[in-house]
Amino acid sequence: CMKQRLRRHIVLIGMMGAGKTAVGSELARRLRVPFTDVDSEIEAAAAMTISEIFARDGEAFFRDRETQVLARVLGGPPGVVSTGGGAWMRGENRELIRAHGLSVWLNCDLETLWHRVRQRSTRPLLKTADPKGTLAALIEQRYPVYARADLNFPARPADSVETSATRLIEAI
Ligand code: S3P
Repeated sequence: CMKQRLRRHIVLIGMMGAGKTAVGSELARRLRVPFTDVDSEIEAAAAMTISEIFARDGEAFFRDRETQVLARVLGGPPGVVSTGGGAWMRGENRELIRAHGLSVWLNCDLETLWHRVRQRSTRPLLKTADPKGTLAALIEQRYPVYARADLNFPARPADSVETSATRLIEAI
């Protein structure tokens, strides 16, 4: 139970659409600690959107920026950090997160994720002929690795952001 000041970061991992940013910012507000969204930090530092970075410089470049930003954020004062869906897939990032925080997997099912991401197609990885198939393939590839997080938090699709934050505080 976390009543006193945070001693390390709470790092949210999981797929796009799982609610990392929404639940993370609510969690930070409740705990009165800083909230950082790694994707937003990357966009601010580059003065470009994630889509623009992918289109102009490619995914490998984006992944290197992601690691740099993650290292900088985790080196700062403890807070809640939401990461992009691919961040936990790089070993170096997992080491960084392990060293500085508690990793929490917002574990969400395909249908819920698809329902949430299909309206906004801002995710460059889903700009394919079969975005739902791509999402399913990513899930298959990533979930065994996400399962190595410190905490597996099953996101309940019907829960509001507030309810999810309450459940998460109880789980931590
Ligand atoms: C990605 C997820 C995105 C963003 C980028 C790549 C991924 O973040 O980092 O488009 O590899 O799953 P969200 O999980 O916040 O959508």
